Amino acid sequence: MNQQQHSIIPLAEPWLPPSCAEAVSRQIETSFVGPGPTAQSFASRLAQVCDVAAAVPVSSGTVALSIAAQALGLRPGDEVIVPAYGVISVINAFGVIGLRPRLAEIDAATGCIDPKRLGEAITKDTRAVVYVDFCGSIGDDLDEVAAICADRGVPLIEDAAWALGRGRPGRRGGSFGQIGTISFSVPKILTTGQGGAVLAHDEAQRDAAIAAADQGDVDWRRTNLNKSIGSNLRLSDLAAALGNAELDQIEERWARKRSAYSILAKHLGERLFRAADGDVPMQHIIFVERPDDVVSQLKSQGILAARQYRPMYHHPPYEALRDRDFKASEFWFAHSVYLPFGVGLTEEGADRIGVAVQRLNCRFMSPS
Ligand SMILES: Cc1ncc(COP(=O)(O)O)c(C=O)c1O
Repeated sequence: MNQQQHSIIPLAEPWLPPSCAEAVSRQIETSFVGPGPTAQSFASRLAQVCDVAAAVPVSSGTVALSIAAQALGLRPGDEVIVPAYGVISVINAFGVIGLRPRLAEIDAATGCIDPKRLGEAITKDTRAVVYVDFCGSIGDDLDEVAAICADRGVPLIEDAAWALGRGRPGRRGGSFGQIGTISFSVPKILTTGQGGAVLAHDEAQRDAAIAAADQGDVDWRRTNLNKSIGSNLRLSDLAAALGNAELDQIEERWARKRSAYSILAKHLGERLFRAADGDVPMQHIIFVERPDDVVSQLKSQGILAARQYRPMYHHPPYEALRDRDFKASEFWFAHSVYLPFGVGLTEEGADRIGVAVQRLNCRFMSPS
């Protein structure tokens, strides 16, 4: 009997088959545990998977976003546009380095920036737009946002935190903007516990990202001289060994996601959120009238659902950014519930969640 038939189903359980432990153990045997050759091989493989010039592994997806902005030449005080609804990391990454975030409304149907409303957010001072591939989606709206940015001469940062290994023929997630980023935190398709990467489109970006992650200077380990100030934000070989093992399984990991989603969809049909690109959304989302009630009803059955995000301007440091109506963001905050979605979710677990949600005493809502 599978564990998830009766035990607690966590919100985002990772999937770490024995080959992951074996890879980490082999790495330990080499005694290279700090940043070194394995992190470099992980970087090369990531660049191939994402079809970009180079990848620079770093300590988190949040740090990757900060570094991406710096690699584009953004400086404190510069304006950057981020989606109005989503994980706090996407705005903090820029606030923490002194940039001035501005909000773009999302499309309630996709969870991504709404291309029709991007124009009202861009100002003459905008220096970058950040598009999040929400739930890993690489939809047509991404092309629309990229076209608007190109038209306005504003660089696009593609936050592909959830989209590793996704894309469409000839175009990989993380490669659509002027620079891209990924996260390897626990809920993602590939996790190194914590970690992330900057996806660079040329050597200058790569060197700027390496410098930003390694004491501010790409050459200091050779020259013993640091030409600018920086921090240490690199990924270790130990983490990269785990990353390489999971890259070997990337198709299998997505296949697990697709099979869990299809079981849930059999129970929930149109009530289950669909990604704009038609592929499986990384997170399993429903919309209900009273989300707190649903979360607690599911919790009483051992199913750990959650109300995941807020509009950015709900957080005190960003209150002043509520300068227009953000009805779609408010809808997502008021009505979305995130059902368990980790790569570790089994088919039996997905079935149990589907049955439990069907039996809920609740009113479902539609985002569009
Ligand atoms: C869309 C998005 N961007 C960035 C991040 C930040 O990644 P990390 O948690 O690795 O710092 C996250 C984290 O969940 C995310 O969902």
